[in-house]
Amino acid sequence: MRNLNEDTITQAVLARHAEMPNERFRQIMTSLVQHLHSFAREVKLTEAEWFAGIQFLTETGHMCSDKRQEFILLSDTLGLSMLVTAQNNRKPEGCTESTVFGPFYVEDSPEYALGDDIANGAKGEPCFVRGTVRDINGKAIPNARLELWQADADGFYDVQYANQEAHRARATLHAGPDGKFHFRTIVAEAYPIPHDGPVGRMLDTLGRHPWRPAHLHFLIKAAGYETLITHVFRNGDQYLDSDAVFGVRSSLVADWVRHEPGTAPDDTRMDVPFFTLDFDFVLNPISNEK
Ligand code: BEZ
Ligand code: FE
Repeated sequence: MRNLNEDTITQAVLARHAEMPNERFRQIMTSLVQHLHSFAREVKLTEAEWFAGIQFLTETGHMCSDKRQEFILLSDTLGLSMLVTAQNNRKPEGCTESTVFGPFYVEDSPEYALGDDIANGAKGEPCFVRGTVRDINGKAIPNARLELWQADADGFYDVQYANQEAHRARATLHAGPDGKFHFRTIVAEAYPIPHDGPVGRMLDTLGRHPWRPAHLHFLIKAAGYETLITHVFRNGDQYLDSDAVFGVRSSLVADWVRHEPGTAPDDTRMDVPFFTLDFDFVLNPISNEK
């Protein structure tokens, strides 16, 4: 194949993939090539702009390490992560909605007993969280496994600290036979996603801020139910309608209620103000058609 021009190059590339035995991969690559070429034609991409794009992606790769995933941040801030989450987690009305996973999940987080303080020294105002894991008919699901993680009052997850010694504000818990769970932690606060790299520069150039509204992450597993990856967002947060990664759903917004010093829900005597959060989760049975 020679003498390809701007009108014939797309078909020439696709023809080269025709023998590809993996059908799904061929479908993905065909669509990707078509959309990429259409994009370049539509914006009349210049050679300098093409090279700036290559440099941006190169820097994005160089920014990645075992502690930092700049490509996920790019996907998140372009809305791709939330799109993929939404189209893969359609659920019947009444089930708790899913939202983005984010880059700060850690496997095998420390196990705690119900009622423990999972902050483990993380900076922030005390908060007591309670809820129940149920099915769509309101029946308690016994013994669900809950993993949770959140940023501290300075807006950082434990894994973002260079000299991290222990996991903080991160835990694995098991709900009781009655589906109930409760634990102590710190209040969730809004924080900016890491923005000292190419994705931060991109946001800045676009006139966008890097902030996420305050939230608490949950990953909930129970036998016979779809795994739920979600957050609970803090009502009243100024970034609920401009989340840098487009993850907010109204059904996930809840009140963090502030209390003056006194007796906490677990009967702890608190001599500083504290917060409470009540939130129930509804899981989707695996058998439900999407
Ligand atoms: C998070 O909520 O942890 C998060 C999500 C997307 C990008 C950065 C952080
Ligand atoms: Fe987060």
